[in-house]
Amino acid sequence: MTPRSIADQTVEELGGPSSVFVRQRRDHEELDRLLHELDGTTGREQERVLRRIDQLVFSHAFAEETVLWPVIRRVLPDGDALTLQVEEEHQEVNELVSELETLGADDPRRAQRIARLVEVLREDVRDEEDVLFPRLQQALDAQALRRLGLQWEVARRVSPTRPHPTVSRRPPGNAVSGLPLSLIDRTRDLVDAGVQHAPERIAPAGEAVSKALATVAGWVERVPLARRGDRPPTSR
Ligand SMILES: [Fe+2]
Repeated sequence: MTPRSIADQTVEELGGPSSVFVRQRRDHEELDRLLHELDGTTGREQERVLRRIDQLVFSHAFAEETVLWPVIRRVLPDGDALTLQVEEEHQEVNELVSELETLGADDPRRAQRIARLVEVLREDVRDEEDVLFPRLQQALDAQALRRLGLQWEVARRVSPTRPHPTVSRRPPGNAVSGLPLSLIDRTRDLVDAGVQHAPERIAPAGEAVSKALATVAGWVERVPLARRGDRPPTSR
């Protein structure tokens, strides 16, 4: 019998409000709202919604890769193949968003890249809710799901909020680079938010700081240890 999607289960069935599945589903619903909001936007409005999507999905996925997927590989015999497929989706999201950051506002490739991004994000949610999580549910009891929920929540709060395509999708690379990249990303988020409301003569200074931080993040990403652990399909 195929296990039921976590999309169709009650909070009680999923292990209670603090279960990792309930927390995951809440984020996935928020993502769905943002993807609808993104639809039909252009220019600065599109940028704004994309940044909110980035802030939601990158920390969400990074914490999955550091905390949840290692558990799946430990408890399911086919956990390696199952998680590798989702890691490839995450890798593609990292690459698409990195590329979007380099494309100008009226670049013709933009619309196509955004359409693909939306498609991969939706596929990723379906793979987790319909395949990966129901399988994990068969292997763990409710108490373990609540414990995992707390671990994932903590990891999510200290995970990067921007794309880092060259960092390993698996430990140890992601685990060691997660905290420094998170600090840099979250500082950039604050600087960028400040720039949006700053007087015109201050804004260029803020943009320069944000750019400098992006350069530092690039160095952290390329440290050999940050790249250790990747399997060939997600290695860059
Ligand atoms: Fe997820």
